[in-house]
Amino acid sequence: MEKKSKLIKKGDLYYPGKVFKKKALVNNKKIYREADKDPVKFWEKLAKKLYWRKKWKKTFLHKPPYFQWFINGKLNITENIFEKNYEGWNKIKNKTALIWEPEPIEEESRKLTYGELFFAVCKFANALKKLGVKKGDRVGIYLPMVPEVIISVLACARIGAVHTVVFSAFSSHALQIRLQDTEAKILITVDGYYRRGNVINLKQAADEAIKETSIEKIIVVKRSHNEISWNENQNLWFEEIIKDESDECEAEIMDSEDPLFVLYTSGSTGKPKGVLHTCGGYMIQAYWTGKWIFDLKDDDVLWCTADAGWITGHSYTIYSPLLNAVPTLLFEGAPDWPTPGRWAEIIEKYRVTTFYTAPTAIRMFEKYGLEFIQRYKFKSLQLLGSVGEPIDESAWLWYFRNVGKEKCPIVDTWWQTESGGILITSLPGIGPFKPSFTGLPFPGTRFDIFDDKKKSLPVGERGNLVMLPPFSPGMMRGVYKNSEKYLETYWKEYGKKIYFTSDAAYKDENDLIRIVGRVDDAIKVAGHRMTTGELESVVALHSDITECAVIGIVDEIKGEAPVVFAVSKNEKSSEQLKNEIISQIRKEIGPIASPKEVYIVNDLPKTRSGKIMRRILRKLFSNEDLGDLSTLANPESVEEIRKIIKS
Ligand code: WT7
Repeated sequence: MEKKSKLIKKGDLYYPGKVFKKKALVNNKKIYREADKDPVKFWEKLAKKLYWRKKWKKTFLHKPPYFQWFINGKLNITENIFEKNYEGWNKIKNKTALIWEPEPIEEESRKLTYGELFFAVCKFANALKKLGVKKGDRVGIYLPMVPEVIISVLACARIGAVHTVVFSAFSSHALQIRLQDTEAKILITVDGYYRRGNVINLKQAADEAIKETSIEKIIVVKRSHNEISWNENQNLWFEEIIKDESDECEAEIMDSEDPLFVLYTSGSTGKPKGVLHTCGGYMIQAYWTGKWIFDLKDDDVLWCTADAGWITGHSYTIYSPLLNAVPTLLFEGAPDWPTPGRWAEIIEKYRVTTFYTAPTAIRMFEKYGLEFIQRYKFKSLQLLGSVGEPIDESAWLWYFRNVGKEKCPIVDTWWQTESGGILITSLPGIGPFKPSFTGLPFPGTRFDIFDDKKKSLPVGERGNLVMLPPFSPGMMRGVYKNSEKYLETYWKEYGKKIYFTSDAAYKDENDLIRIVGRVDDAIKVAGHRMTTGELESVVALHSDITECAVIGIVDEIKGEAPVVFAVSKNEKSSEQLKNEIISQIRKEIGPIASPKEVYIVNDLPKTRSGKIMRRILRKLFSNEDLGDLSTLANPESVEEIRKIIKS
């Protein structure tokens, strides 16, 4: 609590207050110099602090575009969370590991200590083994924010099974294609969960999803006690199968480069990519980035609001806080239900010290107005984080003043599903913090901003953000079963030794990096990554649609939102067609991808070679000057679309 004292403002930069700085785990810039001198040695030193069954032989091996870390090292990440935790097992086993807040206010919350969580993980790990799950097997996890999502992830890690968590708000179709790609034999799900007062029957979605997959058994957590269909031969209750299992389970000894999990993210074509992360490097990065960026200490309580179905949830709701022996908070419900004060109440109730969320949520609360949070003092809060999309200055200042009370440093953290952990941010005990700039590369990592010809760009000039060797230990090692995609997406633009992030960025005179946005067709809708190409392929599935284009437009709350333009071949009313397209998107991807607008048009603007001009659609939508239209094959389409948008 004493960490608090106001941030110090110098020009447009903010620095940590004196009290915070003094107590911060990292408060001296020399760490950057040390890491810069020899990044591999730097990471090696950090890796040595954790528990390895066997030490690695070589720290870093680079065979472009592939690389490995801590070669031949042996470990199990769950040993580092539990019995071999850096803080000492005896010290932490009675400490809270997990706090669960259910959506219904009248329902009781749950707390598990490290000891209790360990027992639950071991019991479930034993049950999975009994079902035939072996090291290297993939296990699908389709769970909402309930304690069992953490238990499941860690049980897989305990026995060396590769977890694939699928966001519970993804559709059954989205789940199906992920299960097909991983060939998982087991799926873990729930009967239902609460969302805005309703029970969502997730088991039903799971039943639909497993058609034409290799799933043999569905394990069902009992959560909302809703009625579900039951197949005796194929379905098992989570509670039943763990009941008689032993609470001891020897950790599977994993190679540093064995897979830990596969997590899917949007690729530019229809199919999502399975991003592969491995055990050793991921663990080191998860531990140290969390420790230093969130300044995690013994008495902290971390609330990372991301769902476990995203990489942010994997790294900063599950692995990082638990490796650091800090309690992690899990909330089942929506941020503003039953009132916009819900999150604020949770922060107060559990005395959250470290709060990590996305700009979309901040903008949403900003819009609700101060009345909902004014009465809270947020005395426990010491540090705030932002992630997933650029945070604009106004949202930053709102967060800084009204949540952090000008005392909490704000770490604006840039990273990706591919990077496994945060890689660009200001460190809280050092700063500086500058609204809308993320900060400096994490010690031991090297980034640059390149033009199209691989030339490093000077201050202020916008180009492509790239990462240079030795990369970082927690970076992805490949795209699951698709090395071509790996090569093409990340290592084609600048060759096999330079990682292409797909983000545009520039630096200021202090070398702080500002992320401008994606240069591929990915858009970030409320921080969720999707591509316009993937949306187009879903719209095109509709039998009445002959052609379509999807663009991302600026949205004041969500950052970006998709807008659909579609050409229909029949006379169906456009209202009906619009609704069908929206439900098709919801069904194939999920509600998060719902378009802001759907326009049924007669023609799309095209070049003479037939290329759809999405740029013109974007300008039409935002009512900007269209410039020269002489290269269009069908300039008359432009006026028609303008009229449709207006009406
Ligand atoms: C993309 C990655 C980071 C984990 C969750 C998202 C954008 C991420 C920031 C930030 C501006 C950001 C980038 C990146 N992004 N963090 N602090 N400021 N943009 O992971 O879904 O794989 O998305 O999110 O465009 O490439 P993801």
